[in-house]
Amino acid sequence: MSWLSEYYGYINLLAIAGAVATVVITAFVVTIYFKNIKSAKKSGELSTDSWDGIKEYKNPLPLGWAVSFLVLALWAIWYMFAPAGLPFAYPLGAYSQIGEYNAEVAAYNDKFTAQWQNADEATLKEMGESVFLVQCAPCHGLDKSGIGGKAADLTVWGTKEGIVNSVLQGSKGLGYSLGEMVPDTVEEESARLAADYVVKYVIGSQDPATATDAEIEAWIYCTSCHDNDGKGFEGGAPDLTTYGKAEFALEVLNRGKEGYIGSMPSFNDGRLTDIQKKAVSAYVLSAEQ
Ligand code: HEC
Ligand code: HEC
Repeated sequence: MSWLSEYYGYINLLAIAGAVATVVITAFVVTIYFKNIKSAKKSGELSTDSWDGIKEYKNPLPLGWAVSFLVLALWAIWYMFAPAGLPFAYPLGAYSQIGEYNAEVAAYNDKFTAQWQNADEATLKEMGESVFLVQCAPCHGLDKSGIGGKAADLTVWGTKEGIVNSVLQGSKGLGYSLGEMVPDTVEEESARLAADYVVKYVIGSQDPATATDAEIEAWIYCTSCHDNDGKGFEGGAPDLTTYGKAEFALEVLNRGKEGYIGSMPSFNDGRLTDIQKKAVSAYVLSAEQ
């Protein structure tokens, strides 16, 4: 027999033995039933139904059979849908290598988050740089300049020049309910004045009462969507008080963007931890390259 086990392996051999036993037992039982059909006298109570004179015996389900049928049916449902860790549950909730991998990643991320929870700005930027090189540089370039217009030029994005560009070239795809900023709706001159207003009085803390008439006039056009205080009517348009800050970049990472330049994936899919997003946002808005 050793040649057989070498060829099939012990586990396979056991399975084959089981299969052979099943066939033998089935043949044996079937033979007995066939014999009974020929010889046994039929008896029992007939049902009242009659099909062309053919009647049926009243054969109630054997109790044991009915109970095990019901139990198996319930177990089948449990087996499929019970959450992981409960007894007799298997496929969807049970151990899998992917599940183990995900659990390990989650545990590591928790550790990582706890360790860097209060990282200072310098550490964040350093961490952000390595995230940037892996996740963002393929589209935005090592120097953040957007590889000749393939993606947003992050060396100006977040600055006054970035505001002017967004107003003149338009901006869409972040998914705000007010839709998009259509390109070429204002002259460059008033785009600059409006950007000045945003930088000084919306992002900065200068008193709006000191704004020049020209700045106010340019800004009024923007308030129809961004509101007088620039906060964007609670989610109707971006909150410009955070423009140029890590918060705004973080919002972009979570939303992703189908814009005029191209599409930028959302990073809200677990690829980056919250700390990594914060770090890369800080790096994007830093002057470092
Ligand atoms: C018709 C409504 C509307 C008007 C008018 C409008 N905006 Fe916007 N703005 C939006 C929306 C919507 C977005 C988000 C666009 C997106 O999804 O990228 C946005 C985005 C922005 C952004 C962020 C761009 C980026 O890089 O993500 C800035 C800065 C901005 N607006 C400034 C202004 C200024 C300054 C004005 C006035 C000159 C102005 N907006 C006028 C609706 C408007
Ligand atoms: C697949 C290419 C791609 C990757 C990867 C990518 N981006 Fe972008 N990103 C773009 C494109 C394209 C735009 C311009 C979208 C538009 O306005 O049309 C953009 C725009 C942006 C903007 C400006 C958003 C705005 O509203 O104007 C920021 C900030 C940004 N990306 C940051 C990042 C960071 C940080 C990463 C890495 C974590 C990253 N991007 C990864 C393609 C990419």
